[in-house]
Amino acid sequence: MSGLLNGKSVLITGAASGIGLATARLAVREGARVALCDRNEEQGAAAVAAIVAEGGEALFSPMDVARDAEVSVGIDACVRIFGRLDGAFNNAGIASDPSGQMVKAADILVDAWQRVLAVNLTGVWYCMRHEIRHMLAAGGGGSIVNNASIAGLVGLRGDAAYTATKHGVVGLTRSAAADYAGQGLRINAICPGFVDTPLTAAAFEQLGSKILAAVPARRLGTPEEIAEAVVWLLSDRSSFVTGAAMAADGGYTAL
Ligand code: NAI
Repeated sequence: MSGLLNGKSVLITGAASGIGLATARLAVREGARVALCDRNEEQGAAAVAAIVAEGGEALFSPMDVARDAEVSVGIDACVRIFGRLDGAFNNAGIASDPSGQMVKAADILVDAWQRVLAVNLTGVWYCMRHEIRHMLAAGGGGSIVNNASIAGLVGLRGDAAYTATKHGVVGLTRSAAADYAGQGLRINAICPGFVDTPLTAAAFEQLGSKILAAVPARRLGTPEEIAEAVVWLLSDRSSFVTGAAMAADGGYTAL
């Protein structure tokens, strides 16, 4: 069977739900062995069991990406089991406010600010630095995709903390891409628009029609549509693409 990721070992954070889970499932269908990493052990283990039951090769590694020691141990364990790391999708992320409330910049609580920074931005950097270490030790090569957002390209009203983290992910991606392009390691960001997942359910409930009015496609994206773009970025088919912040947003940032 020929697949876009045939023979590759891929690690995905936030893989127990939404975009991460859809990407794990597609990566397996495209021939990869996949390490699903998540802080939600129950959902992560269930996702792996379902993939294995369908004949795929997958393992679960519990990990809170905001804790560097857990990230280091978890990534090392995945690489030890798979023998190498060809691709990584740093996708784990949280909303500024789980209840979907919009909060103006000066009113963000310090704890909320620090939590979203720790997961969405520092967590991506923690993962990247261990992934890069393994990829370079194996002789270079590899593809890393970081999940940013349209909030990494434009501002979102009432969501400054999340927007700051996602602009940070785009900046981190661009600088790191330049640092390692000479060693054949590619690093890109995917910038999804509004996608139908548990992360955004509360915000859609409150603002659904307003959100859709701002999307030229007039619909939400599906996790599977984002997975298609991520798998392409992880694959050798995107061999000259590095440092990109690629929108998959139904046209939201086109206007
Ligand atoms: P989701 O809530 O369905 O999945 C997120 C997963 O990340 C969950 O399994 C959760 O347990 C895990 N996670 C959260 N914090 C973690 C941590 N500290 N350590 C390890 N795992 C952790 O959400 P969704 O929508 O699939 O989001 C995935 C990524 O996509 C996030 O980075 C999000 O910011 C980004 N994104 C989502 C959009 C959307 O409209 N759903 C749009 C643009 C970007």
